[in-house]
Amino acid sequence: MPSRIVAGNWKMHGSRTFVAGYAAALRDRVGSAAGVDVVLFPPSILLDALSRALAELPVQVGVQTVHAEAQGAFTGETAAEMAVDAGASWTLAGHSERRQYQGETDAMVADRVAAALRAGLRPMLCVGESLDERRAGQAEAVVLRQLEAVLDRVGDGLGVGAVAYEPVWAIGTGETASPEQAQAMHAVIREALTGRGLEQVPLLYGGSVKPDNAGALFRQPDVDGGLVGGASLDAQAFAEIIAAAVE
Ligand code: PGA
Repeated sequence: MPSRIVAGNWKMHGSRTFVAGYAAALRDRVGSAAGVDVVLFPPSILLDALSRALAELPVQVGVQTVHAEAQGAFTGETAAEMAVDAGASWTLAGHSERRQYQGETDAMVADRVAAALRAGLRPMLCVGESLDERRAGQAEAVVLRQLEAVLDRVGDGLGVGAVAYEPVWAIGTGETASPEQAQAMHAVIREALTGRGLEQVPLLYGGSVKPDNAGALFRQPDVDGGLVGGASLDAQAFAEIIAAAVE
């Protein structure tokens, strides 16, 4: 069985004050997370503060993206090695907001996943179709294209990572894929991974996961957890989502 993971993507939210309050709130609530890996992805400038604040808790931290190179004249970028140095053990790769606003192509995402593996970071590859692509009947083709681009580059290197299916139309919109829609796409992803001997890679669903819908999503056979955006900023809500993955 793939391991269960609940991850929180803070996006561009937070501060050192927020980190301190959040860690304190989570400390009282995360004790029951047996069998579930918990990961938080803060903005990179808060990585060090958050990893220190969570040092006593069974919570890992990750960076939201890494550059392909280990160092160099790339103003504003973060190398995977630097994220490791700041306490990260995971990185997101190919989040739809980076594909959309930063122009990350499938090839760039593959390079970043390769960089993560070079540095010993576990990649959490994000894939997902837009509403137009779904309406055009292209959802599976888009998701498989995004996945294959990375598999063709790193092969079974992805075995140390995870894949998050995040339909773009469900991110930050309050609209969640139904458990059946999530399961259907996860089954497609699982089949593609199994063809490469990677059936153990955890598959997370992301897109408006909340305490009240997490349980139904996580009960689907191929949904091994969630990647949570907005609701992960509330330690209480995030803890409830973790608890839904434990059950
Ligand atoms: P959301 O974001 O939970 O706020 O929809 C999910 C994500 O973008 O990872």
